[in-house]
Amino acid sequence: MSIPALFQPMTVRGVTIPNRIWVSPLCEYSAGLDGVPTDWHLVHLGSFAIGRAGLVMAEATGINPVARISPHDVGIWNDNQVAAWKRITNFIHSQGVIAGIQLAHAGRKGSSAPGWGADYDGTSDAAHGGWQTVAPSAVPFADFDPPVALDSAGIDAVVDDWAAAARRAVTAGFDVIEIHAAHGYLLHQFLSPIANKRDDEYGGSLENRAHLARRVVRAVRGAVGESVPVFVRVSATDWTPEGIDVADVARVVSWLAEDGADHVDTSTGGIAPGIHIPTGPGYQVEFADRIKHDSEIATNAVGQITTAEQANDIVASGKADAVMLGREMMRDPHFALRASTELGYELPYWPEQYLRARS
Ligand SMILES: Cc1cc2nc3c(=O)[nH]c(=O)nc-3n(C[C@H](O)[C@H](O)[C@H](O)COP(=O)(O)O)c2cc1C
Repeated sequence: MSIPALFQPMTVRGVTIPNRIWVSPLCEYSAGLDGVPTDWHLVHLGSFAIGRAGLVMAEATGINPVARISPHDVGIWNDNQVAAWKRITNFIHSQGVIAGIQLAHAGRKGSSAPGWGADYDGTSDAAHGGWQTVAPSAVPFADFDPPVALDSAGIDAVVDDWAAAARRAVTAGFDVIEIHAAHGYLLHQFLSPIANKRDDEYGGSLENRAHLARRVVRAVRGAVGESVPVFVRVSATDWTPEGIDVADVARVVSWLAEDGADHVDTSTGGIAPGIHIPTGPGYQVEFADRIKHDSEIATNAVGQITTAEQANDIVASGKADAVMLGREMMRDPHFALRASTELGYELPYWPEQYLRARS
């Protein structure tokens, strides 16, 4: 039988990803205050590699200490973190799987309570490892503590930290770098007029609001060289007329492609609380499709993709080049193994230890 679309390899720059089933970044809130990934991250990410997802994307990882979403997020700003990540990428590679990392700066959504296990909401105080957050403007998210607006030296330092983190990520063995510009975090805060009230060259017009994201993509491309794929996760819409919409984001993506981005991981939302998002199976596929065709760039879809047939149809239809799965991967880290069986495809790289489980 021919290889289903979902199991076709995909080459981006110098990297060939063995199939189109990818793991979406998933914050685990499982590091200590030092931001060093732990055994949890090894087993969590390693199990997806055993399950033969083509690309395992590590969670939102702080480019510096104040870039973390919560005090228990992982980071990549020092050598201890790099060494711990290397152990993880070594294991992923041992399974023939590609390792990616999502580099992130949470901006005004930083210093938040971890996603589980905290006995408080909102901003973490110093006793819980919290910090003063930064943002394009001193406008808080929900009832979080107000951020400090970045000045131009602060913006330059963020760009430098992104480049340094990308260099460290390559040293740590990551094959793919993803820049997090979605979900209401710092780069999205600059892109959206809901969070960006600046009147300098980083605020006002869409071109100005895209200035920081463009600088970051150029800096990361410069840091990693020509053979490393650079992905960007975007929120394709704020789901409100006050924010950005898919036409704006498609324009921004075209600029980011000129700056060196290869691929768009297409999500939505997150800039402000209380905005209705009409979720449902594959609810963000239309945005991956629109950006792929308007901006002429490879994309992946993400969001409520849960079955082999649905995932294969998305890729086979040409609406997106690949799919990312988040919660379904947590329910079934071996989704790709099961999907190959369900699509009647004899996966040539099934893990030998698990061959007796192949029906
Ligand atoms: C526990 C959890 C942690 C997440 N962490 C991240 C993250 O680190 N970075 C990110 O861009 N999205 C994150 N997301 C969003 C997912 O990557 C994904 O886009 C979303 O869950 C929709 O896909 P799904 O329906 O397949 O879960 C997270 C989602 C969950 C449920």
